[in-house]
Amino acid sequence: MSSPAEGIEIRRMSAADVPRVIEIASGLEHAPLYPRSTWMEVVDPKSVPPRLALVAGGPSRELCGFAVASLLPPQAELETIAVAAASQRRGIGRRLIQSLFQDLRRAGIQEVWLEVRVSNAPAIALYRGLRFRETGHRTSYYAHPVEDALLMSLRLD
Ligand SMILES: CC(C)(COP(=O)(O)OP(=O)(O)OC[C@H]1O[C@@H](n2cnc3c(N)ncnc32)[C@H](O)[C@@H]1OP(=O)(O)O)[C@@H](O)C(=O)NCCC(=O)NCCS
Repeated sequence: MSSPAEGIEIRRMSAADVPRVIEIASGLEHAPLYPRSTWMEVVDPKSVPPRLALVAGGPSRELCGFAVASLLPPQAELETIAVAAASQRRGIGRRLIQSLFQDLRRAGIQEVWLEVRVSNAPAIALYRGLRFRETGHRTSYYAHPVEDALLMSLRLD
């Protein structure tokens, strides 16, 4: 039996990907609603802090996911990850983060941390499965709706 994520390739996000990235994000509850200008900063190699942004797709399929980390050596923050609703639960989110880890290791990053809404069970399950550990809790950290954040981190081997 073939893997559901077969044919999915992970590559760097480019400016040409931004319209589809915005489309994916706009269809998901917990994805960031950044304006186009912010996404253009994300793909700008001169952005401060430097970003590592990956997309998932394939030669003959449209993009179905993305992940972005900001680099603050020796740490990096996983800023966001999202997979289009129709492509979820096929291992694509896991592959995006694993690819991000490979690139982060090459960039000398030793620890990755993130914040996530306490109600975001799918994302928390994804992170726990990748060995992220809970390191803190921020009360009423998010707005619209107000909600606590869970802090998680992972040491890269
Ligand atoms: C979180 C998200 C990126 C996961 O992407 P995905 O491609 O569906 O995840 P995967 O298929 O790689 O799942 C990997 C593991 O994560 C966990 N997981 C993912 N979705 C889950 C869900 N809905 N319920 C429970 N566990 C889930 C499971 O452990 C899963 O492994 P399994 O399928 O072998 O059981 C996706 O749900 C999403 O885009 N959500 C909206 C945006 C978001 O919340 N981003 C995070 C905050 S910025």
